This record gives sequence, C-alpha cells and structure tokens, in this order.
Amino acid sequence: MKIITEKDIDGDPLGGRTICVFGYGSQGEAQALNLRDSGAEVVVALPAGSRSRERAEREGFEVVDPGEGARRADVCALLVPDEIMSDFVRETVSPNIREGTALVFAHGFSLRFAEVDPPAYADVIVVAPMGPGLRLRERFMEGKGLPASFSVEQDATGTARATALGYAKAIGCARVGLFETTAAEETEVDLFAEQAVLCGGVTRLIEAGFDTLVEAGYSPELAYMECLYELDLTVSLIVRFGLSGLRKRISGTALYGDLTRGDRIIGSETREAMREILREIQDGTFARQMVSDERSGGKELHGALSREREKLIEETGRRLAAIAHPEAVPDSS
Ligand SMILES: NC(=O)c1ccc[n+]([C@@H]2O[C@H](COP(=O)([O-])OP(=O)(O)OC[C@H]3O[C@@H](n4cnc5c(N)ncnc54)[C@H](OP(=O)(O)O)[C@@H]3O)[C@@H](O)[C@H]2O)c1
Repeated sequence: MKIITEKDIDGDPLGGRTICVFGYGSQGEAQALNLRDSGAEVVVALPAGSRSRERAEREGFEVVDPGEGARRADVCALLVPDEIMSDFVRETVSPNIREGTALVFAHGFSLRFAEVDPPAYADVIVVAPMGPGLRLRERFMEGKGLPASFSVEQDATGTARATALGYAKAIGCARVGLFETTAAEETEVDLFAEQAVLCGGVTRLIEAGFDTLVEAGYSPELAYMECLYELDLTVSLIVRFGLSGLRKRISGTALYGDLTRGDRIIGSETREAMREILREIQDGTFARQMVSDERSGGKELHGALSREREKLIEETGRRLAAIAHPEAVPDSS
C-alpha cells in the first residue's frame, strides 16, 4: 500500500469552500480548530440546547442550527455520535444539502452497518484519524499530526478523492501518513482491533493476570501495580520502537520470559475466539446486537459496566488512585 503524505497532495483541494462541522465533541472540536488554523472557512452546527455550544462559541466559532449548516456548507463534516448518524443524515443533512456537497465521515461504521443512504448527488468520503480528538489537536499544535485512513464511497463530482486528501491535509493527518482504504475495511479492522486487542483484549489480559496472582495469595496492591500500572511503560516502548524495539530495551529475564511463555498465554483457543469475533463483525452480528441494546436503553451495556466496577481490581484501583492514576478525575459514580 502506498502511504500518502503532504508532498503527494497538490495545492489546496479544499480551495476556499465553507466547511460545516456538525458536532463539537472529541473529533468535532479538534477538527474544527485544525481546519480553521489551516485557513479553512469553518462554521459549527449544533442543536439548540447542546452542551457543546458554549465551548464552540468560546473558541470564536459561529454556531448555527444543523439544518442551516447543511444548507450553507460545501463540505459537511459529520462528527455526531455514530448511534444517531443514520437518522441525522436522513432527517437533517440530506434534505438540506446542495448538489456536489461533500459529506465527510470520521468512521465508516454508519456507512458499513447503519444503512446511511446519502443522496446520489453528494460526494461521500471517510477520513478517519487514528486516535482521539485531543491527540489530533495536540499533535497538530506541535507541528505534527496523527495518521489517518481515508476512502471515497461515492464520487458524484469527480473530485471526491481530492477533497478527501485536502481535508486530511487540513486536519494535519497528511503530515504523517494517509492509508487509502474502504469504509468496510476501515470499520471492520477498527472494530476488531478495539474488541480483540486495544479494549476487550487488554482489559481482560490485565484482569486475568491480576486475578491469578490474588488467587495465589499475593497482595492485590502489588498485583495491581505490576499487571496494570507498569503496562504504561511497555505500551509506550512498543508504540515508540515496535515489538523488537521493546525486546531490545527489557531485561534479559523479561525477554526470556516473554519468548518462552507468551505463546502459552495467547494460544489456539484465543486465536479461534479472535476469528469468531471477526466473523461476528463481518456478518453484522455485532452491529445488530449493539444497535438493539441501544434501542432498549443500553441494558446489556450498563449491566456489564456496573458488574465491572464491583470487581476487586477496580476497588484496588480506586484505593491506589493517588499513586497509580494521579491524573484521573475523581469518580463519584
Ligand atoms: N472519539 C474518538 O476517538 C474518535 C476517533 C476517530 C473517529 N471518531 C468518530 O468521530 C465521530 C464523532 O465521534 P466523537 O467521539 O467526536 O463524538 P462525541 O465526542 O460524542 O461528540 C458528539 C458531538 O455531537 C453533538 N451532537 C449530538 N447530536 C447532534 C445533532 N443532532 N446535531 C449536531 N451535533 C450533535 C454532541 O453535542 P452534545 O455535547 O450536546 O451532546 C457532541 O458535540 C464518530 O463517527 C466517531 O466514530 C471518533
């Protein structure tokens, strides 16, 4: 795959077009600020009574009603929650946009699963930054960027790809690298990575390690610090230097333990579970279950969350917060 950077993008493909950023949350705030700092004309669209309105106005953005934003924009950055995306596009965006307007998504989920059906006369693109909005903004301010994937899902004007590249450049992602893909691939890989590795995988690995030590009579405090707190160092070494870079920087004892024991932790059973999880993403089972839980008030999600909070590892974390998580906002819930 060719990785695209700024040197591959000619001129300013956004060229004076008005961009309306819908939503001013994690991605909306960061993208609106980066776009404006890159010289784009930006307005923010939020519903009346939105909790985000004050923050956007404080930053000096003109905040308009979403219907008006769709009417005014040449480029609509759709940065509202994925759960409401398909209704939002159908009820607010599609009836109000002009022919040739570009719709920019930051994640392909609603295109892949939620039956978003934008009008045939709109360009539809995905520019998905690889990280949260706060990081996207911080890196931009440092003169760097976050990598992103991008795709063209509908090219009504013949210029959708140039718009995608221009947009990715303006939010800072082309400073690092752009991966060209499809909404389906981006979504399936993203969901799999968060379920099997980044969130579902890592949290359960930490819990299983912690529980094994505590069951064997070791103190929860030490188990917590070793299995959870110290992960920070490992992850930052992996991200900075790669797996072999980590292995160059750990002790000989840690290295021997890693290479002779790791395959027993992630064995054939876990790999088969990963394949099954991937199949459930690909055939839509995961998306259907999630949407159906949301429609019934999030019973499954909230039940699981409250069971997690009651676990010994969480109770230990709360007791050790001053040492282990000094930056954590006190959680009274
Ligand atoms: N967060 C990430 O790390 C990340 C990374 C890559 C891609 N993405 C994608 O970025 C998109 C946005 O996610 P996010 O995490 O930035 O969401 P978020 O933090 O939950 O923010 C959503 C924003 O949309 C506003 N909103 C809600 N309903 C609206 C409506 N009807 N019209 C206009 N604005 C409305 C919310 O206002 P209120 O404050 O009033 O609720 C809030 O400002 C999603 O597609 C997501 O998958 C997110």
